[in-house]
Amino acid sequence: MTPKARPTTHDAEDDPRNRDILIYVNGALVPRDRAVVSVYDSGFLLGDGMWEGMRLYNGRWAFFDEHMDRLYDSCRAVSLDIGMTRGGLRAALDITAAANGMTDDVHCRLMVTRGVKVRPFQHPSLSRSGPSIVIIMEHSKPADALGARGVRLATVPQVRGLPMSQDPKLNSHSKLNCVIACLQAEQAGADEALMLDPHGFVNTTNACNFFIVRRGEVWTSTGDYCMNGVTRAKVIEICRREVIAVFQKNFSLVDAYAADEAFLTGTFGAQTPVSHIDGKPIGTQGGRGPVTERIAQAYRDLVRENTR
Ligand SMILES: Cc1ncc(COP(=O)(O)O)c(C=O)c1O
Repeated sequence: MTPKARPTTHDAEDDPRNRDILIYVNGALVPRDRAVVSVYDSGFLLGDGMWEGMRLYNGRWAFFDEHMDRLYDSCRAVSLDIGMTRGGLRAALDITAAANGMTDDVHCRLMVTRGVKVRPFQHPSLSRSGPSIVIIMEHSKPADALGARGVRLATVPQVRGLPMSQDPKLNSHSKLNCVIACLQAEQAGADEALMLDPHGFVNTTNACNFFIVRRGEVWTSTGDYCMNGVTRAKVIEICRREVIAVFQKNFSLVDAYAADEAFLTGTFGAQTPVSHIDGKPIGTQGGRGPVTERIAQAYRDLVRENTR
């Protein structure tokens, strides 16, 4: 059965140009319908790879260094040799953007896997031909449907993992924990999952980081069990600069339900208001409000400065 199309936090406006994009596959630029990796690829077989989602503004990659820091740190943690310098990766990204004539409203998924295996088993030493590097870039203007009505979250049974099992800071190809959480939320009639940490504190969503605003203060989780989101870090930086009280702390659903405003953060959607949690409306304006708006404006300015 084909799943019904429902709004997601990563919906972009339909752009027919995306049918003819060129995709970077290990140094070659290949039309989309012929862009493939081997069924022996570690990413396909095991989810053994890392990726970054980045956006292009004015022909420049927003927060490029921060994305590279996370990618190289993650790959180092799992002994995955990218086999390319940051300069080399940037050149690959720029070549792909140029080949597609892309400068603005572009979303990119840069993927690095341990590469093709000689046999279809788990051991990393079976990947012997170097990493696979794939860059998908799409024309991508976030659709405003969810931004306008706000995201409805449901708290789900699937929790964030402890760092000694599969550290949730690894932006790995395997996102099964998040996918299960998203399915649970969808089956509960919500758009996305609000995930708790192993102690029951509010942590993050399956695909974005999560913030609440209470009495003018901005709260987010300690950061221990969530993706170390680049947008999350920028929001915290903005709050400090704008003298908005910001706390990374443990808080529970009781605090979240009573928030005045709530929003998600991610490279794709920047800041997206959360209208409901577990069916309970957030604040009085669909989760949005003056603090979120101020942060969103400051974030737009920061992106502009960073991509001048
Ligand atoms: C689980 C999860 N949370 C949050 C994020 C947002 O991170 P960023 O702000 O770097 O896009 C991502 C993006 O990859 C993610 O996969």
